[in-house]
Amino acid sequence: MEYEILKVLKAADTHVSGSALGESLGVTRTAIWKGIQKLREEGYAIEAVNNKGYRLLPCEEPYNVMELKEGLKTHRLGKQIYFYKETDSTNLRIRALGEENAPEGTVAVAEIQRAGRGRREKYWESPFGTGVWMSFLLCPSFPPTEAPLLTLVAGLAVCKAIRKQTGILAEIKWPNDVLVNGKKVCGILTELNGEIEQIRSVIVGIGVNVNMDLFPEALQKTATSLKIENGGQSISRKKIFQSVLEEFEPIYEDFLQQGFASFSDEYKEMCCTLGQQVNVICKEPFEGQAVDLTPQGELVVRKDNGEEVVVYSGEVSIRKQEDA
Ligand code: BTN
Repeated sequence: MEYEILKVLKAADTHVSGSALGESLGVTRTAIWKGIQKLREEGYAIEAVNNKGYRLLPCEEPYNVMELKEGLKTHRLGKQIYFYKETDSTNLRIRALGEENAPEGTVAVAEIQRAGRGRREKYWESPFGTGVWMSFLLCPSFPPTEAPLLTLVAGLAVCKAIRKQTGILAEIKWPNDVLVNGKKVCGILTELNGEIEQIRSVIVGIGVNVNMDLFPEALQKTATSLKIENGGQSISRKKIFQSVLEEFEPIYEDFLQQGFASFSDEYKEMCCTLGQQVNVICKEPFEGQAVDLTPQGELVVRKDNGEEVVVYSGEVSIRKQEDA
């Protein structure tokens, strides 16, 4: 009900009386009053004037299902959005929704994650009201071996979304971190649900540090937020959320048709790992120069002796100039 009221107030450029609202929505004035209270609790500033009615005042951008759906230009992604004021991890929510046969493109988004999950069992810091913590469900019919490429799709989508919405020069650190000025602004956790030969579903989890002012000490050297990189000016989380989905969808659709070749040029252009000296952290760690990506999206690293090694996945750290 409250979102119906909100729509009317957003469309009106003046006050709307409680009785006019009640009539147009077919409910009592008391129901309207209750709806207005709920909207206020969600952070909307609504003025009430005797004999005139209610008017929506400009306020800090609220973050809820209605706002996230409003104006979202996608075909499949985000048709169903589950919004959690607080949850453990949106990846876990999407896993559960997938098990209940939620349709492809279902999105879970949270204001705060109490058990945000990063790669390699790491904890992902996801404080209240500052980031875009979201996951969505995909049901591709390709074999599981192709699934890692979805993290590349997501990395490119986030990178493009940040550039488009903020003008900040985000770059991709292969395979799927997004960096600004060498610090991480987004992490991606892609999880597979299925058997060895067949995917049942894929969960793409994306965390974008949007409006944090400060990070815990352990992260200060390696993490940043869009707000920090934007000179302290806040960035709209709604725009980042929508733009990531809007960028992801066409890249994903082309990828389903034509594979990595459909976006490899664009990915390479935005990938800051290529050309850099890197440490490859695996069973037998080694160093070298990242020289290219294979047609399957793997990283080619040239060792000092000229030998080229294909790195499938895993942790690659870009060596700083001074220790290169
Ligand atoms: C990483 O870089 O280690 C991956 C971090 C992924 C974080 C996102 S936030 C939304 C989604 N839910 C989670 O629990 N994790 C991902």
